[in-house]
Amino acid sequence: MNIIGISDTHDSSCCYIKNGKLIFACAEERFQRRKNFGSFPIKSLRYLLKKYKLKPKDIDYVAVANLSLPTTNILGLNSQFSIKDHLKIQENYFYEHLYNKKNIKLTKIFPKYKFLGESYYPVKKIKLSTSLENNIDLFNLNKIRNNYICKFFNINKNKIYFFDHHRCHAFYGYFMDPTRLNTNVVTSDGGGDKTYETVFTVKKGKFNLVYRGRTSLVGKIYSSITLLLRMHPVRHHYKVMGLAPYTSNYNIKIIKKIFNKSLFIKGKSLKFTKDKKMKDFYFYFVKKLKPYRFDSIARGLQEFTEDLLIKWFKNIFLKTKIKNFIFSGGVANNIKANKRLNEQKFVDKFFAPPGPGDENLSIGAAFSMVYDRLGYKNANKYIKKINNAYFAYEINEEHLKKFKMNKYIKKYYSPKIDKNFKLTAKKIKKGEIVAVCIDKMEFGARALGHRSFMCDPSNIKAKEKLNNLIKQRDFWMPFTPSILSDNFSSYVKGKTKYCNKYMTMSYDSSELAQKHLKAAIHPKDLTIRPQLVSPNVCKKYYKLIKEFKKISGIGAVLNTSLNIHEKPIIMDPQDIVNDFIISKKIFIDNIYVYNTLFTLKKIHK
Ligand SMILES: [Fe+2]
Repeated sequence: MNIIGISDTHDSSCCYIKNGKLIFACAEERFQRRKNFGSFPIKSLRYLLKKYKLKPKDIDYVAVANLSLPTTNILGLNSQFSIKDHLKIQENYFYEHLYNKKNIKLTKIFPKYKFLGESYYPVKKIKLSTSLENNIDLFNLNKIRNNYICKFFNINKNKIYFFDHHRCHAFYGYFMDPTRLNTNVVTSDGGGDKTYETVFTVKKGKFNLVYRGRTSLVGKIYSSITLLLRMHPVRHHYKVMGLAPYTSNYNIKIIKKIFNKSLFIKGKSLKFTKDKKMKDFYFYFVKKLKPYRFDSIARGLQEFTEDLLIKWFKNIFLKTKIKNFIFSGGVANNIKANKRLNEQKFVDKFFAPPGPGDENLSIGAAFSMVYDRLGYKNANKYIKKINNAYFAYEINEEHLKKFKMNKYIKKYYSPKIDKNFKLTAKKIKKGEIVAVCIDKMEFGARALGHRSFMCDPSNIKAKEKLNNLIKQRDFWMPFTPSILSDNFSSYVKGKTKYCNKYMTMSYDSSELAQKHLKAAIHPKDLTIRPQLVSPNVCKKYYKLIKEFKKISGIGAVLNTSLNIHEKPIIMDPQDIVNDFIISKKIFIDNIYVYNTLFTLKKIHK
C-alpha cells in the first residue's frame, strides 16, 4: 500500500509511507527556503514523486491533514508576517472587531498582501479574511483543496481522505514512539479544526478519545505574550522560554497571579477555564502587564505554563490511571515544561516526538489512513517502528561533486577527503566551527547532526564565535550538545530510562557536563537539552563525535542547526553557498559535505 500524506496549513509538509514504512517526510519550508512556509507543499511533493517514480496508478491513498482550514493558513499569513505585521493585525483589526465592534476587512489593513513562494492552489483567487468577517465559505475552500489535490496527483477523488488536525498530532506522536506501550496521548496547540486540546488513551494499539476541547489556551497565550515582548508570535516562543530563567524574583508573584487568573483548571477537570473578562489573548495582557519588566514577564509566563500543564496531566492520570504520556502539538515544543512533566511522580514515561508542531500533520494523516483502512490490530503490525528522525534528501556523491565545482567554493575553500573525521575532529578541537551536511535530513526544527553547525562544547570562545559571526543569535539563547550514547548518563541527570533523544526535552546536567559541556548548557539554570547519538541510528555522526572524544576526552559536541537567522535549515549543500556566502558574505571555517572537509583558505580567514 502506497500512502502519501499532506499538510497544507502553516509549516506544510508531505510524507510517503510504503508498505508500512515511513520512506520520506519533509517540511516544505526546506524546498521553498521560506521559514514556516504554509500552503500546498508543491516542491517537496514534486521531489517525492520524482525520486520514488510514483505514477498516479501507484498511489493508493492521499491522506490530507485538517478537515478545514482558514484562508489565512493557505495564504501563508502567519509565516509571512513580520513582527510589525502581527502587531498591526492585532491593533488595527482584532482590536476593532472585538472591542469597537467594527467590521473591518482584513484586505483593508493589508491591501498589498501577496503570497510569497510557490503554491499549487489558486492563491490569487482566495480572499484574505478571518472568521470574524463571517464571510468565509469554508465549504468552498475545502472544495478548492479537494479539487486541486485531485488534479495535482491525477487521481480519483475517492482516493483522497481528510483527517482531523488533533487526531493527526496524536497518531504521529504514538507511532513515533517505538515502545508502543499503553499510554495517554495528549495534544495541545494554538488551535486546529476548532480544537485546542485532546486526550486519547491507547491500549494494545487501540485509540480511544477521552476528551476533546477548545479550552487549552496555553499555546494562544504563549504566542500573544511572545508578541507582547516584541518577538515573532509564530517562531520565537523558544526565545521567551530561553529568557525565562534569567530574571530574579522581581515581581514574579504578582505576574504569576495575573496569568493564573487568566486560565486555570478547576478540581479534577480536564477542561481549562478562562477569565470571563478575557475577550482576547493579547490586549487583555497588554493592559495588565504594562508595569512589569520583559524578563519577569517571560519567567511568569513560563512558570504559569509549566504549573498549568502539570495540573492538567495529573488530572489526566487521575482519570485514565495510565502513567505513560506522549505529548504532541505545538505546546509540546516547550522543552522546559516537558522536563517538569517528566519529573512528576505520576509520570513513568514521557515522550515528545521530533517536530511536535504542525510539521508532523502530514505523517499523522498517513498513519490515520493506515489505522482506518486496516483496523488497529493490523495497523500496529503494519506500521514499522521508527527509531530515528532522518527522513529525506540524502546527500550523495553527486551533491559533493556539484558543491566542489561551485565557483565560490573553489575560490574560498580547499577540499580534503576525511571519511573517518580525523581532520574534522582536529578542527573542532582547535576551536574552529564546522558545518556538517551528511546523510538524510532531520525532520522538525532541531538539527540532529546531519545539517548542523558544530564546535567544541567546552570552548566558550568557539560558542561566542558561532553566536556572533555565524548565527547572529540572541545573546541569552543557550546551545545544546549531541552526546554519545556511551557518555549520556555521565552528563545527563534525572529520569532518562525512556530518553527523549531528539532534543525535545531538557534535563539537569551533571557536574562533569558543567565542565565538559559548559558552552552547550543553559548558562543560568544549567539545564541541558541533549541529543542522544547511538551508533545504530546515526553511524556517521557517532563516528565524528567518537573521533573528537579520542583527542579531547569529551563525549559530545556542541550542535546547532545549520541555518542563517530566520531562514530554514539547509537542505542541499548548495543552500550553504546561497544563504551564507552569496546572501550574507559569511564564510564558515569548515564545511563537511558527504565525505569531504572544505577548509576556508588562509588568505580569506
Ligand atoms: Fe497543531
